[in-house]
Amino acid sequence: MPSKFTRLSFLDAKKNNKKITMLTGYDYSMAQILDDCGIDAILVGDSLGMVVQGRDSTVEVTIDEMLYHCKCVARGAKNAMLIGDMPFLTYHTSADEAIRNAGRFIQEAQMNAVKLEGGKSMADTVKAIVRAQIPVMGHIGLTPQSVNVFGGFKVQGKEESAAKALIEDALALEEAGAFAIVLEAVPEALAHIITEKVKIPTIGIGAGRYCDGQVLVVNDLLGMYSDFTPKFAKKYADLKSTITDSISEYISDVRTQQFPEKQHTFSISDEVLKKLHSYEKEM
Ligand code: KIV
Repeated sequence: MPSKFTRLSFLDAKKNNKKITMLTGYDYSMAQILDDCGIDAILVGDSLGMVVQGRDSTVEVTIDEMLYHCKCVARGAKNAMLIGDMPFLTYHTSADEAIRNAGRFIQEAQMNAVKLEGGKSMADTVKAIVRAQIPVMGHIGLTPQSVNVFGGFKVQGKEESAAKALIEDALALEEAGAFAIVLEAVPEALAHIITEKVKIPTIGIGAGRYCDGQVLVVNDLLGMYSDFTPKFAKKYADLKSTITDSISEYISDVRTQQFPEKQHTFSISDEVLKKLHSYEKEM
């Protein structure tokens, strides 16, 4: 029987050279499917702002919206480690506020850990949350909450100084007590260096083959989100077409009275029906 994947499983996986699998999930049904498939971790990512809520970025997502989705996911998953993404401005103003908000993910929404964006500049915050007994996953590289600073969703760490800064960010997060680091949209060779430099696992998204694990936005993997598909997102299915075909067929079936069929209906006894007919005549 599969057992619960934990913070320690992340560390063991790196030690034993076993790749970690992570996907985003935002609701009960998907969490159940991911968990049944044996995924190691489910990230309730603030990417839900784009793929679920239809916003242009993740910046507007609120903590209450995140907690709602975390609670839905928690009901669907038994074994996967559950990681809640702290949204923009819920961990930036003070360590106290960061701890309180991180605590809500654990206490109210049954998450096992939180993720937050930023490296060196967030190290003290990570330390404070970890001190409060809440496991923290870091996230560096293309950190979507900084889209207004980056001027768009761009690959990070291509210049020497930026690449060195990312290595320092990773080391600072490790030192602060993070149990893993997401590396998003960074050159493969840089992700390789970082992965070898830190003892905690790196989880890549657009960071190449040498990371200790991989994460994707599940809607990208399934081909359900077509507004924007990043180069790094491998589409394993084209559910948008499948769903479109199914719904078009349903619309046509209803209009042509091919649905519902007898097998989709409920019966009533002849005796009750007879009484109903005579009642109908009396009316
Ligand atoms: O919000 C999210 O889904 C993420 C992943 C892309 C890592 O941060």
